[in-house]
Amino acid sequence: MKRTTKSIAKMKGVSKVAMITAYDALFARLADAAGADIILVGDSLGNTFMGFDSTVPVTLEMMAHHTAAVARANPDAMVLADIPFGCAGMSFDRLLDDCRALYQKAGAEAVKIEGGAEIAEKVAGLASAGIAVMGHIGLRPQQVFKLGGYRKFGKTPEERAALVADAKALEEAGAFAVLLEMVDDSAAEAVTKALSVPTIGIGSGPACDGQVLVCTDILGLSSFTPSFAKKYADLTAEISRAYSEYVADVRSGAFPTPREAK
Ligand code: KIV
Repeated sequence: MKRTTKSIAKMKGVSKVAMITAYDALFARLADAAGADIILVGDSLGNTFMGFDSTVPVTLEMMAHHTAAVARANPDAMVLADIPFGCAGMSFDRLLDDCRALYQKAGAEAVKIEGGAEIAEKVAGLASAGIAVMGHIGLRPQQVFKLGGYRKFGKTPEERAALVADAKALEEAGAFAVLLEMVDDSAAEAVTKALSVPTIGIGSGPACDGQVLVCTDILGLSSFTPSFAKKYADLTAEISRAYSEYVADVRSGAFPTPREAK
């Protein structure tokens, strides 16, 4: 069954939302076959597949290219594309154009934007133009150079109150869900209780309405796995074994074996 903003909204308090990142049709098909509700074409593609040190160098063109590949998998899961660095800070018209490109040219069904109350007005404008927006608060990896590193958010009463206010502003603006990254568990619980739309957590504890992990962390393909992530497979070891066997077989002549003439 195709996942929509409506079906995702209905899951709050009933069933947890499972979200996985994917950046191409191959991995999107696998996430979809596993029953993921949302496939996030995250700008984490910068760190995971493109060799960048952060998400900052990822451009709208890169996002469109990878979103189109995921959309070609034709998943039941919702195709959610990240708005990359800098775009949310541009004019509303330019942001709307970026969303239009991801929708019309790449096949996105929703976008995720890093930001809180300060982008609420733009989120409201996008919502009235027909764009489904997921907010993203707590740690915003696109802010890494301003922050000077990654850290947990919501540990102090002030930060916790600011997170609740940001989330409420996004909900009131029409966001269909809010992602909480690296938010203190009890602050994430407070945000989740304060909203009627689902929260999706990453490194934010079990109280969120859903969870997201980066596919390379799940699969054991990341060079660095964050402490909150769970590695469900060690594909680095398995792929290394398979590739090494293939290389050795080519060198030794064990592959290919002669084929019978037909
Ligand atoms: O880009 C991404 O994969 C993300 C997740 C870390 C939530 O935004």
